[in-house]
Amino acid sequence: MERVSNFLVIGSGIAGLSFALRAASKGTVHIVTKKEAEESSTNYAQGGIATVWSGEDSFESHIEDTHRAGAGLCHTDVVDLVVRDAPARIKELIGWGVEFTRREGMDEFDLGREGGHSRRRIFHAKDLTGREVERALLARARDNKRIRIFENQTAINLITRQKLESFDRNRADEVLGAYVLDRKTGAVHTFTADVTILSTGGAGKVYLYTSNPDIATGDGIAMAYRAGATIANMEFVQFHPTCLYHPHAKSFLISEAVRGEGAILLNRAGKRFMEGVHQMAELAPRDIVARAIDAELKRTGEDCVYLDITRKGAAFIRKRFPNIHQTCLSFGIDMAKEPLPVVPAAHYQCGGVRTDFYGETDVQRLFAVGESACTGLHGANRLASNSLLEALVYSQRALARAVEAYVGKPRASLSIPKWDPGNAQDSDEAVVVSHNWDEIRRLMWNYVGIVRSNKRLSRALDRIEMLKKEISEYYWNFKITGDLLELRNICTVAELIVRCAMQRKESRGLHTTIDYPYLDDEHGRKDTVIRRTWF
Ligand code: FAD
Ligand code: SIN
Repeated sequence: MERVSNFLVIGSGIAGLSFALRAASKGTVHIVTKKEAEESSTNYAQGGIATVWSGEDSFESHIEDTHRAGAGLCHTDVVDLVVRDAPARIKELIGWGVEFTRREGMDEFDLGREGGHSRRRIFHAKDLTGREVERALLARARDNKRIRIFENQTAINLITRQKLESFDRNRADEVLGAYVLDRKTGAVHTFTADVTILSTGGAGKVYLYTSNPDIATGDGIAMAYRAGATIANMEFVQFHPTCLYHPHAKSFLISEAVRGEGAILLNRAGKRFMEGVHQMAELAPRDIVARAIDAELKRTGEDCVYLDITRKGAAFIRKRFPNIHQTCLSFGIDMAKEPLPVVPAAHYQCGGVRTDFYGETDVQRLFAVGESACTGLHGANRLASNSLLEALVYSQRALARAVEAYVGKPRASLSIPKWDPGNAQDSDEAVVVSHNWDEIRRLMWNYVGIVRSNKRLSRALDRIEMLKKEISEYYWNFKITGDLLELRNICTVAELIVRCAMQRKESRGLHTTIDYPYLDDEHGRKDTVIRRTWF
């Protein structure tokens, strides 16, 4: 049975849910989501959402900080738009029921500070901002009769007109919906809609160590690439400087807000090392702090550095960072009494599906919003707490454009065939899937990490090409599973990261290479773009 709606939203983090809540006033909405609806990076966001709010702050300052972090690649019109729209989006979240932390005994919001920000301007809900946002948006979406949420459903591929007819590179293609795997039954359903929104989040799982949850496998970016959309700036993978170093902690994030409240970074010898690196010391933009930690680890041969906030005292720490404090305690570390062992881990994909000012991709009826998109806001490095904000701003703009251009407007009247499993058999060697998962994540960590080189990138690409063949064979011969789909997608995303990194012959923002250790403004001040050239 074909499932038809006006809006097909793939993903239920802040981008998908905020789009859906708005879109429900214009038509019917189907949300498909891989696991339980709340499982998303949004749900784990700690620090908060940046906006100019206090009288001591200014749009100019937030704009300047965003550009400084983005190392010359942020799109000026986009930064302007997002920063100036931020207060309205925060008010909207409050109207949707999000409870941000207020200053004790005052009718004022408690504004936090994070790396790269020259002012306090972060709205937060203690250190569980994302959980609070996800709770409020999801409750509203579940209450809305025009929104239907399909959980445990993985979108496999976008359905495009040209895939059904014939390919013609000279004619614009359009998206008609998606094939979606029911992870519980193994059935594949057809979803069609006037417009499709990719809000599938980031791709941290491409790396061995990541702050991201398991859903972050870059599915939207890979699907859009397969559908012929332009992908941009994939080399700019943000490594968060401070994730807990503990064998069972799965790179649990220690929010930058901890440094914002005065924590310092020390090496094992107890020496502070950020002061000599940048004038903002521990509050320098993330790429600088992550690189400094990486250099310190390489120099000393140690496994981790230490983050010390003990001087703020137990009462403050328990109140401001209850979740981080409790989680670290569960691993036997009391951050009120001792420094936390920390290391960098893959955190955020600044690149993604290239979109215009309205979140629209270059394939018609296809929009990308949130971490899966590349709008031009982040440039070569995202400023802390600008991600949740970007999703809110663009979900609104995308809806306006989608309604104006596509909703209720005639599109290619094609009959869409059901998913054809061909002669696929049950897998006899699931070990191929788990082995390749591990191999991709490990090679990306070792060869395409914080510091890169031409040699490492080409080694990575050789391995990825071989893995691609193996995965493709497996994909066509065996019945698909959620794991196999994700493996295919992380392999595609890994390739896109490497190919974009190879295009950039300089070091800028999050892309550092020993072969071109300088900024080359003459040739490098442009986005890297990549588009599938064969079908
Ligand atoms: P997500 O919230 O990741 O949602 C993606 C959704 O898509 C999920 O529901 C997922 O299941 C679904 N999905 C994916 N693939 C498929 C598929 N094939 N089929 C169906 N569904 C699919 N940013 C900030 O601005 N401030 C912060 O304080 C902050 N803290 C962070 C802390 C952590 C630990 C992490 C990991 C990130 C943090 N970030 C923060 C980044 C920010 O949380 C994310 O960039 C943002 O939440 C992305 O939102 P999204 O809606 O685009 O994607
Ligand atoms: C953090 O709390 O450090 C994460 C903030 C972000 O990724 O923007």
